[in-house]
Order: sequence, then C-alpha cells, then structure tokens
Amino acid sequence: MSFSTHIVGVGGYLPERIMSNDELATIVDTSDDWIRERTGITQRHIIDKNQGTSDLATQAAQQALDDAGLTVHDIDAVIVATTTPDMVFPSTASMVQHKLGGKGFPCWDIQAVCSGFVYGLAQADGMMKGGMFKRVLLIGAESMSRIVDWSDRNTCVLFGDGAGAVVLEYKDAEHGILGSVLHCDGSYRDLLMAQHAHPGASPNNDRARLDMNTDAAGVAAVSMKGNEVFRFAVTKLGEVVDEVLGKHDLCKEDLHWLVPHQANIRILNATAKKLKMSTDQISITVAKHANTSAASVPLALNDLYRKGNIQTGQLLLLEAFAGGFAWGANLLRWSK
Ligand code: UT7
Repeated sequence: MSFSTHIVGVGGYLPERIMSNDELATIVDTSDDWIRERTGITQRHIIDKNQGTSDLATQAAQQALDDAGLTVHDIDAVIVATTTPDMVFPSTASMVQHKLGGKGFPCWDIQAVCSGFVYGLAQADGMMKGGMFKRVLLIGAESMSRIVDWSDRNTCVLFGDGAGAVVLEYKDAEHGILGSVLHCDGSYRDLLMAQHAHPGASPNNDRARLDMNTDAAGVAAVSMKGNEVFRFAVTKLGEVVDEVLGKHDLCKEDLHWLVPHQANIRILNATAKKLKMSTDQISITVAKHANTSAASVPLALNDLYRKGNIQTGQLLLLEAFAGGFAWGANLLRWSK
C-alpha cells in the first residue's frame, strides 16, 4: 500500500423546480423534438429565487459528508468550482463552510467553467500529496440559469442548475487517484463565453421572465458557436483520454467507467465510439439535468455511485471540456 488521495464520500443536489423542454418552447422558438434529438436533454432543474449557488453546493456537500460518515469538523479545506458564485466575493466556498457550521480552515473557489471540477480534483490531489491537507471537500456547483440569455434558443436550452460534491481523503490504502492532465487554450475565447455586464445592460437577460433572482450585482449572458465547440470538444476529449492513460501505462481497454462532462449526448456517444467503449460504461445524466457546467462531472459520478455500479479497484476516467477552451481528465481506481 502507499499514500494516495481517495474519494470517500459522494453527494449531489438538484433544485426542486424542473423545467421541461415543452415549457422552454413557450419562451423561445424551439421544440421538445429538436432538443431531444440534437442534445439528448429532456429537462433541466432551475434554482429557486431564494437560493444561491452556495445553497446547492451545501446540500451536495452535506450528502457527501454523510456518505463519508464525517462532519465539517473533519474537513481541512473547501474548494468550490463555480462560474456562477453567489457574489463576486466572498467566495462561494466560504459561504458553504459557514452554512455547514465550519470555521477556520481555508476555503476558495476555482473557475474553469465546465472543467472546474476536473481542475479542482487535480488541484486538491496535488495539495494533498504535498502534505497540506488530509481531507478536502470539493464541490462543483452552478446556477447557469442566472447567466444564460433566455432569448437565445441556441444556448438557453442547453443549461441547468445543480451541484455535486466529493470528500477527498489522503490515506495509506490501495488505489485512489492516479493522476490528472489539464489543458487550456485562451485563443478560443470567442467561441464560448459569458461577458459580464452591469445591471440593465443586457436586455436579453430578462431573468424576471423566469421569476429568478434579481439581487445579483450584475448579469452575464452565455454565447456559443455550438458547432465549432462541438468539433473541438470531441477531438480534445479523445486526446486527453489517451494522454492520461498513456502517462500511467494504461490503455482504453483497461477503463471500466467514463464519467464525462454532460453537455450533449452526441458528444458522449462520439467519445464512446472513439474509446471503443459501450455506452453502458458511461455515466449519462445529461437527459435529466442538461449541462450544469462544473456540477456535471460530480453529478454524473454521484449517479453512477448511487446506482451501486462502481466496484473497488475499477478504473474511472473523469473528463471535461469548457469555455477557454479549458479541458482535462482525472484517472482513478475506485477505493471508497
Ligand atoms: O459545456 C461546454 C461545452 N459545450 C458543448 O460542448 C456544446 C457543444 N455544441 C453542441 O452541443 C451543439 O452544437 C448544439 C446542441 C449547441 C447545436 O447542435 P448542432 O447540431 O450543432 O446545431 P446547429 O448549431 O448546427 O444548428 C442547426 C439548426 C440551426 O438552424 P439553421 O441555421 O440550420 O436553419 C439553428 O438555428 O438548428 C437551429 N437551432 C434550433 N432549433 C430549434 C439552434 N438551436 C435550436 C433550438 N431549437 N433550441
């Protein structure tokens, strides 16, 4: 045995309100058929106007702590991966710490959009290996409904709100996180972005139409050249899988589970084809919660875990692709 970082608790949370494709079709010129066929999405969850991203994150975190049989007092750090923090500052992670009843230990947010959780796992693993922390609570949480342009059918149909969390523990035990690879190419900024705007500056971001929050300091609207993002994502996700496996002298056939970012069922199917994996080996949750950005990967992990599908020693690959472009993957052997 040797020391490594292990996932010892998993949790997820989706806000109560469900918005169907049919409901969306009353807001923009779209249809249930188009959305299902082009994306695989059937519904998304929408945060309540009285909730913030930190509330979603806290729910997921509490479930992960319960699952680990731990409390916040056993935790040495909280990291929240989010693009949609409650406020510009303080960090969402500090709010989660407080809501969980913790105090004193470090908390911070990281921003790598849909790749935030994958980046966060790599960061936490590195810090734990470096001896800084024994236990870290890592959360991916988003309220994408607050930054989409609800008049743009090209993007608003794609996103939803939610949170997923893991408790990480550095311990002397078999298996655990083997390693991660991360990439970014900032030259692709314009293909997928959300420009910040001051209140009232974005007439398209009429959140009142959806009775959502109205208190945030500013608004931003997601814009995307979907086709180009799609092509790049499929290529880079294939490459990053080869890269991380190669670093650990493993091959595609060794993989038991793929836990990918949930943007589009067609991207997941194309990745499965490249990896020669059966779709049964892929955690697919995009249908029920759409693209929840940084929450996608931990929500997909939570779903797979709660179904009782993951066995000790199995090889899992987590991967994501995001605006930036920022992408990456984590490789681990399950050992909870
Ligand atoms: O999370 C970060 C990573 N994000 C992604 O990976 C997203 C990647 N991109 C995608 O998932 C897909 O490109 C989309 C789902 C965004 C779009 O699918 P597509 O097959 O690439 O469609 P398209 O953009 O080529 O559009 C096809 C048609 C267009 O009409 P015309 O120009 O052919 O007449 C669009 O205007 O579909 C139209 N369209 C819609 N129609 C009904 C676009 N959005 C909608 C809609 N409802 N919601």
